Amino acid sequence: MVDARSGSPRPEPVMEPAADLAEAGLRLEVDGAVATVVLDRPERRNAMTFATWRGLARIGRSLPPQVRVVVLRGEGPSFSAGIDLSMFSGGSGESLPDGSDFAASDAFIAELQEGYTWLRDPRFVTVAAIHGHVIGGGFQLALACDIRVAADDVKLCMKEPALGLVPDLTGTKPLVEIVGVNRALELCLTARTVLAEEARRLGLAEIVVPREGLDDAVRELVGSLLAVNPGAAVATKRLLLEATENTLAEQCAAERREQIGRLREMAEARRQG
Ligand code: ACO
Repeated sequence: MVDARSGSPRPEPVMEPAADLAEAGLRLEVDGAVATVVLDRPERRNAMTFATWRGLARIGRSLPPQVRVVVLRGEGPSFSAGIDLSMFSGGSGESLPDGSDFAASDAFIAELQEGYTWLRDPRFVTVAAIHGHVIGGGFQLALACDIRVAADDVKLCMKEPALGLVPDLTGTKPLVEIVGVNRALELCLTARTVLAEEARRLGLAEIVVPREGLDDAVRELVGSLLAVNPGAAVATKRLLLEATENTLAEQCAAERREQIGRLREMAEARRQG
C-alpha cells in the first residue's frame, strides 16, 4: 500500500482490539467503506481522557484501506462533555503536565493532538454527527472533521479559556477559518454556548436536522459521499485543504496537478476496459 501524499509505502494497518478501545471510551464499527467511531462513555457524557485521544490516534493509523468515510458520533445524551475533569487531578493515574519541562510537555500534547490530525487525511471524508453538549475537546473533535451534521439540540461551547487553558486539540485553526478571528475570539473568551440555529448560520454545522433525524441524515450524506469516484474524492479533499494556504497561482498549479492525475487514472481505467 502506498501513502496518498508521500507516495512511500505504508505498513499494513492492524485493527485495534475492541477491548482496548472500550477502555479508552471508544467503539469502532467498520462496514465496508464506512468506519464509525463512537464516543462511548455515555454515563460520563463521553468525557475524554488521555487514553481516548491516544485511542483515536490508533484508530486513525489502523483503519483498513477500503475505508473512505469516517463518521464520529457520541453515545447517550451528548456528543462529548470535553476533557474528563478528573484529568486535572490525576484521576486516571496520569495528570496534565505542569509545563516545567517544555520539551516533554510539548511532546505530550503533540501525542494527544494526533488523535485529531488524522481526520484531515485526504484518504477519508470525515463526518461529525453531533448532538447535545459538544464541549471543549469535543467541540475541537467536531471541528477536526470535514463536515458537521448537527441535531437541533446541539450545544457547542469552547470552554478551555474559562478553565485557564487554551484550546490545544487542533481546534483553533478550523474555528478561525470557519467563523473568522473576531467571532472565534468572542466564542472562546466568553465560553458561551452556541445553539443549533446559530451553529448553522456561522458554518459550524453544514447540516442541521431534528434530533430524531440525525442518524438518517448522516446515512444519506454518507451515501452521497460514497457515490463519488474514490480517486476524485481523495484528490478534491487534498486540493481544497491546500486552498487557504496557497496563493492563487499555487492553487491553479495544484488544480492542474490533481487534474492531470485524474486524467491519467481515467485513461488507464479506459485502457484496462
Ligand atoms: N468530566 C468528567 N465527568 C463528567 C464530565 C466531564 N467533563 N461531564 C459530565 N461528567 C459526569 C458528571 O460528573 C456526571 O457524573 P455522576 O453521574 O457521577 O454525577 C455524569 O457525567 C452526568 O453529568 P451531568 O452533569 O449529570 O449531566 P447533564 O446532562 O446534566 O450535564 C454537562 C451535562 C453540561 C456536559 C455537564 O456535565 C458539564 O458541564 N460537564 C463539564 C463540562 C466541562 O467543563 N468540560 C471541560 C471542557 S474543557 C476541555 O475539554 C479541554
